Amino acid sequence: MRAFLVNEYAHPAQVSLTINAPEPTPAKDQVLVDVFSAGLNFFDILQCQGKYQNQPPFPFVLGTEFAGRIAKDSPIPEGCPFKPGDRVFGAAQGAFAEKVPAPWSQLLPLPNNMTYDQGAGLFVTWPTSYEALVGRAELKPGEWVLVTAAAGGVGIAAVQLAKALGATVIAAAGSQEKLDVATRYGGADHAVNYTKPNWQQDVLKITNGKGVDVVYDPVGLIRDCLKCIAWKGRALVVGFAAGQIEKLPLNLVLLKNISIVGIHWGAYSKLEPQHLPVVHTALLDLLASGRVKPVVYTDVFPLERLVDGLLALEKRRTWGKAIVRIRDEHETEKSRL
Ligand SMILES: NC(=O)c1ccc[n+]([C@@H]2O[C@H](COP(=O)([O-])OP(=O)(O)OC[C@H]3O[C@@H](n4cnc5c(N)ncnc54)[C@H](OP(=O)(O)O)[C@@H]3O)[C@@H](O)[C@H]2O)c1
Repeated sequence: MRAFLVNEYAHPAQVSLTINAPEPTPAKDQVLVDVFSAGLNFFDILQCQGKYQNQPPFPFVLGTEFAGRIAKDSPIPEGCPFKPGDRVFGAAQGAFAEKVPAPWSQLLPLPNNMTYDQGAGLFVTWPTSYEALVGRAELKPGEWVLVTAAAGGVGIAAVQLAKALGATVIAAAGSQEKLDVATRYGGADHAVNYTKPNWQQDVLKITNGKGVDVVYDPVGLIRDCLKCIAWKGRALVVGFAAGQIEKLPLNLVLLKNISIVGIHWGAYSKLEPQHLPVVHTALLDLLASGRVKPVVYTDVFPLERLVDGLLALEKRRTWGKAIVRIRDEHETEKSRL
């Protein structure tokens, strides 16, 4: 099978696609999934170079997020709710390949109204944004939300979810193109460019001087955002896409009675597994209703061009969720008839 096999640490640009990789053998609790589309993440680039917190032994197939179909020759472990042919999305090491072995507990049913491309980048991004806004910031209808990197993977999910939850959303991003994406595809009510000096003044003007109730920040811009947060606002620490772990003088927290709130979605499966179905059910309902809709970056890369996709992500050129398409949904459906 075709797979992006890593035999030694290197930047992805130095790794070639393997066209005759061995097919994986699923372990006891795993099923075999025919991968249709896979999501690109910054951590894939780090893992390829040996710089990520989670490094599988060599040789390993890169990629974690995917959408696909349970393979017709897949084993079905006891208790697994899926059967061969079921459409699923999920996360497991080895997604940049034609087949991936995945623990069935790491899979969810792909709603019928969604394509594999749309499902490929859902499993991590959307629950992160949902739990951040609902579980951690306790967002209420009518509140103001500021989302930084609002056209990015987690950002655009946060914009749509905050809107669906009844908030008024201000999208902040680094270019006019990305602000247009956050408004057109995300449904943001207002947009500000955070590369402009004193951009926080625009946010204060938009909110009639009050400031925003919730800040959702995957970039590492909390300190800047506190200049336009409201009294008793909540600031969500989601990530550090700018590359620096941000430090904060605590007098800023004291002055406006604000809360700094963390979100680490990956830790829930270990520390609060009983909460996963709550978030998954709420999200699947929202996705199936069409009130929120994953945004896929327009350049959909074939597996042969995975490196171009990862380079575009690394250079900050993508918006929404960048994906690789490993099988063509329509071609495969035609060949099944
Ligand atoms: N806490 C959690 O559980 C959790 C879960 C998932 C992801 N994350 C984290 O969230 C962050 C964003 O993930 P994502 O999937 O949304 O990524 P993404 O789609 O690549 O978006 C990141 C955005 O950050 C902005 N940015 C600002 N400075 C940047 C810089 N120096 N280099 C690169 N990007 C920069 C860019 O938007 P502009 O061009 O508009 O500035 C970029 O598009 C990552 O740090 C990720 O690790 C956290």
